[in-house]
Amino acid sequence: MYKSSFVPVNVPLVNGNEKKYLDECISSGWISSEGPFIKQFEAQFAVLVQRKYAIAVSSGTAALDVAVEALGIGPGDEVILPAFTIISCISQIVRSGAKPVLVDSDPLTWNMDPNQIAEKITERTKAIMVVHIFGLPVDMDSIINIATKHNIKIIEDAAEMHGQSYKNKPCGSFGDISTFSFYPNKHITTGEGGMIVTDDEKLAEDCRSLRNLCFQPNERFVHKRLGWNYRMTNVQAALGLAQLERLDEFVERKRRMGAKYTKMLRGLKNVQLPLSKMNYANNIYWVFGLVLKNTLDFDAKDAIKRLREKDIDCRPFFYPMHLQPVLLKMGLFQSESYPVAERLSKLGLYIPSGMALTDEQINRVAKKVIEVLG
Ligand SMILES: Cc1ncc(COP(=O)(O)O)c(C=O)c1O
Repeated sequence: MYKSSFVPVNVPLVNGNEKKYLDECISSGWISSEGPFIKQFEAQFAVLVQRKYAIAVSSGTAALDVAVEALGIGPGDEVILPAFTIISCISQIVRSGAKPVLVDSDPLTWNMDPNQIAEKITERTKAIMVVHIFGLPVDMDSIINIATKHNIKIIEDAAEMHGQSYKNKPCGSFGDISTFSFYPNKHITTGEGGMIVTDDEKLAEDCRSLRNLCFQPNERFVHKRLGWNYRMTNVQAALGLAQLERLDEFVERKRRMGAKYTKMLRGLKNVQLPLSKMNYANNIYWVFGLVLKNTLDFDAKDAIKRLREKDIDCRPFFYPMHLQPVLLKMGLFQSESYPVAERLSKLGLYIPSGMALTDEQINRVAKKVIEVLG
């Protein structure tokens, strides 16, 4: 599909037991959301992130939709979340009639700045949506303190954090509800897919019902609540199980990739590289991001174009929530400004970071990045 010199931004590694488990789905006929792999995948994922319950869904976005609805968030409520994130985080908050309240990012970690949360709390604040960005976790301690003090729920979006920990406790273990994505650029993939985890039995039951159209056990087609068909299939779970078997190896691969890129690009004075660690975690490099400094006279869009001309496939960083046309049209965030999020979106891009990236490709990418941004 690509010429051999082209380096795609992401290629997953699906060369373990995936084929074997997929064959089992086909030969047994278990291809819908019923089937043995779903239960196994949920059970093993719950163990991984030290939670009591795991509920597999069709995407990370679906997981967030369900999480927001399961917590009963709606009109009159406020939810605090980062300006610098993906639209998936805010969609259901807005659809529910609740008010999204944004905080800016830390310029070094690119995560939401926990110091900006306290001033945004009001008596209407129902939840803080914590989003771990790009491979380093959010500094959780102060957020947990604030949430406990004000009796506020935490939704933890750990979409990019499989295998990552904060102070040796798994990401995904911090939220009243935590969510993951299994899109193919994630550390483990199911093609499309997501997971919700929690320790609360009632929330888990609600999430299971919400992912399955809120069918009732006794009166199946009589509905007391509106849900979604967000079920994961046994076929996706088969992939997920095979991927989960290799998570440690995958995290190790990404850390090696991050260390190699860092070593080769460290000398670039025009570019800010990702932090390799904080005192609470080592980076797992979901993606390897670059933020251009103002010593360059072009932005990330231009850089992506120039790298693409050299056969290196890159992607821009997220576009901030307060500048999203769809949300401005709804009257949200009028004249609000989050300078770090704005700068990251204008000057940030990530270079090829997929699981199947070879050492030879890493060398080639780094060489071209130095040519373009040096
Ligand atoms: C932080 C974050 N949250 C949510 C999602 C949405 O996940 P999905 O693409 O599986 O819907 C993503 C996807 O990349 C993400 O990075």
